[in-house]
Parts: sequence; C-alpha cells; structure tokens
Amino acid sequence: MDPWKFKNDDHYETPDKAWRLLTQYIPKNFSIWEPFYGSGNSSEVLTKFGFKHYHVKEDFFGINSTENDIIISNPPYSIKKKVLEKIVTFDKPWALLLPIATICNQYFLNLMKNTYYQIIIPTKRINYLKKGEKIHGAGFDTIWICVGLQLFLPKRQIIYEPLVDMIDVKIENEKSHEKINKH
Ligand SMILES: C[S@@+](CC[C@H](N)C(=O)[O-])C[C@H]1O[C@@H](n2cnc3c(N)ncnc32)[C@H](O)[C@@H]1O
Repeated sequence: MDPWKFKNDDHYETPDKAWRLLTQYIPKNFSIWEPFYGSGNSSEVLTKFGFKHYHVKEDFFGINSTENDIIISNPPYSIKKKVLEKIVTFDKPWALLLPIATICNQYFLNLMKNTYYQIIIPTKRINYLKKGEKIHGAGFDTIWICVGLQLFLPKRQIIYEPLVDMIDVKIENEKSHEKINKH
C-alpha cells in the first residue's frame, strides 16, 4: 500500500508509447524526476529510452526541490489541481500527462496565465495499463502539458503526434538526437 491515501482510479501505468510522445523530444543528457511512482514501471521505460532518472516511492508533496533537469509524470487525476499548484513551484521544466479537459479548467487558466505552455496531443487515445496489462479503453483523452521545453519541442503551442507502437520505433533514431546536434 502506498504511504499516501490510495485511490484505485488513480493507479494506472503509462504505456511506453505514451511516454515516447514526449521523451523523443527531450535531450538524452537531461535527467528526469518521475515523482508519481505507481508500480515503478516508469523506471523500466525511462531506462529503455536511455534517460538517467529518479523514480522513488515518496510523497511528491513532501519534496520542495530536485537536482534533476526536468519533472515529468502521469500523476493521480483526482488531485491534478494540487499537483499543478505544486509543480509550478519547482524552478524546472515540467510535463504532465493529464486529461485534455484540464486546459479548460479555470484554475488551470489562472495558474498558467503568465506561462507559455505547449501541449502534445496524441492522434489516438492513450489506453493505460494495470500490472502491465491493457485493461479497457480509457473514457477520456489525455495529453502532455509541457512547460519550459520550447527549445526542444516543435515551435507550436499545439503539437499533434502519432501514438506509435514501440515495436515500430527504433529508439536510437529519436528526434532528440537530431535536436541535440542542432543546438
Ligand atoms: C496515474 S498513476 C501513474 C503512475 C506512474 N507515474 C506511471 O506513469 O505509470 C499515479 C500514481 O501516483 C501515486 N500517488 C498518489 N499520490 C501520490 C503522492 N502524494 N506522491 C507520490 N505518488 C502519489 C498513486 O499511487 C498512483 O499510483
């Protein structure tokens, strides 16, 4: 059992193809903090993608700074407002996988009114996993909301990105390599 209050609906694992929508753009020399542990599955994915990362079962709200270069996660949606209010206090680029409706919420608009953010919208709905297995179709669409990544992401606020099965992807050819070489 997690040390924080456990809500079953908040406990889904992110498939690697959903991670890839974002991580293909992140420089490989960036270290990542993935604060919402779940089953620990993210560690396996980020290792496969070649990122140094910190992914430990501890309370996100008890941490006030990180030495990592970027914070990325799929957080519990029942407390997404609280998560957003906290993540903006870290002086780091961040990206969260959240329901698309989040960007219409008044609290989001208030929180982000002076902040440039970009969104990555998958061209197919992401289905999440439980214990590594697909369970059922998700009831809503989720997107990556990204802050501080404009150097690396395409120069648009809305980025549509195909959700590609990892079997079709060669990780060594990712776009982030091309980006690093350009900078
Ligand atoms: C949607 S799941 C995603 C797990 C993982 N980040 C992934 O992408 O596969 C969110 C997880 O956050 C955990 N969680 C809830 N409150 C937390 C907190 N205060 N600090 C850290 N993790 C928390 C939940 O137990 C849940 O497993």
